[in-house]
Amino acid sequence: MDNQTVVYGVIGDPIRHTKSPIMLNRAFRETGVNGAYAAFHVTPDRLEAAIGGIRALGFRGLNVTIPHKVAVMTWLDEIDEGARAIGAVNTIVNENGRLIGYNTDGIGYVRSLKEEAEPELAGRRIVVLGAGGAARGIVWALARELPASVKIANRTWDKARDLAASLGGDGGPVSAIRWEDLRDACGEADVVVNTTSVGMSPNVDDTPIDPAWLKPGAVASDLIYNPLVTAFLRGARERDCRIHGGLGMFVYQGAYAFEYWTGLPAPVAAMRDEVLASFSGK
Ligand code: ATR
Repeated sequence: MDNQTVVYGVIGDPIRHTKSPIMLNRAFRETGVNGAYAAFHVTPDRLEAAIGGIRALGFRGLNVTIPHKVAVMTWLDEIDEGARAIGAVNTIVNENGRLIGYNTDGIGYVRSLKEEAEPELAGRRIVVLGAGGAARGIVWALARELPASVKIANRTWDKARDLAASLGGDGGPVSAIRWEDLRDACGEADVVVNTTSVGMSPNVDDTPIDPAWLKPGAVASDLIYNPLVTAFLRGARERDCRIHGGLGMFVYQGAYAFEYWTGLPAPVAAMRDEVLASFSGK
């Protein structure tokens, strides 16, 4: 770092578990960008002051994580169309004092799915398990790929119905289905995505549905990246499905942020290596 270094960061509460600094600093090193990225613990009562701080100090960019993704929108100058539809911001770009909010979670997920498991989503039948915050961005981004259908199932029906209503629209591919109807829907699906927390460490033997419901050759995708291969993915692999884990979504949401900030292609492979190395406690 020197007197030209451009500063970036991530804010959240809690924040100490985040892998974003190691991943983004590797991206800066790899591309020769004179940038530095750090993690900041910001409690909700300090959010406004923190955003004022990045204006005052001239940070070029900021990632925003739980619990600030919705509240932060109040303090920005402009919200990108996708972030507005999703109702949450995870990336801020500081354009000469104008703070613009984006959401790279959903598009990061879709880029990862296409590069790592299924290059063509047009015409595909997709089932999404869960209707929480993570599902929202993903359903929005999936719907833009012109799939034949995106069926949302959730343990609590009302949330699936509301999500489908807010992102669906008449004649579009998005709809809600009952949890009881999942078996049939999964049997016909080309891609089944788990956005629920079921199977996350320490409950590594739990699975949201029976993986045997998937048809052989379908893609099983899980947003969870701890563990890297969940019980849902293990079961689907035994059924000759292609599997797609959650690490890619994390890497590509960061890749989009890097690209918005710097205008350079993100060094995705190096970013992934860095995160993987940190898991194995290099
Ligand atoms: P996130 O922002 O990570 O999506 P969230 O908004 O709390 O987190 O959503 C968690 C999702 O996991 C929800 O869809 C939740 O279902 P409910 O809406 O019924 O709560 C789902 N989920 C959590 N535990 C579950 C379980 N044991 N079985 C099925 N779904 C579960």
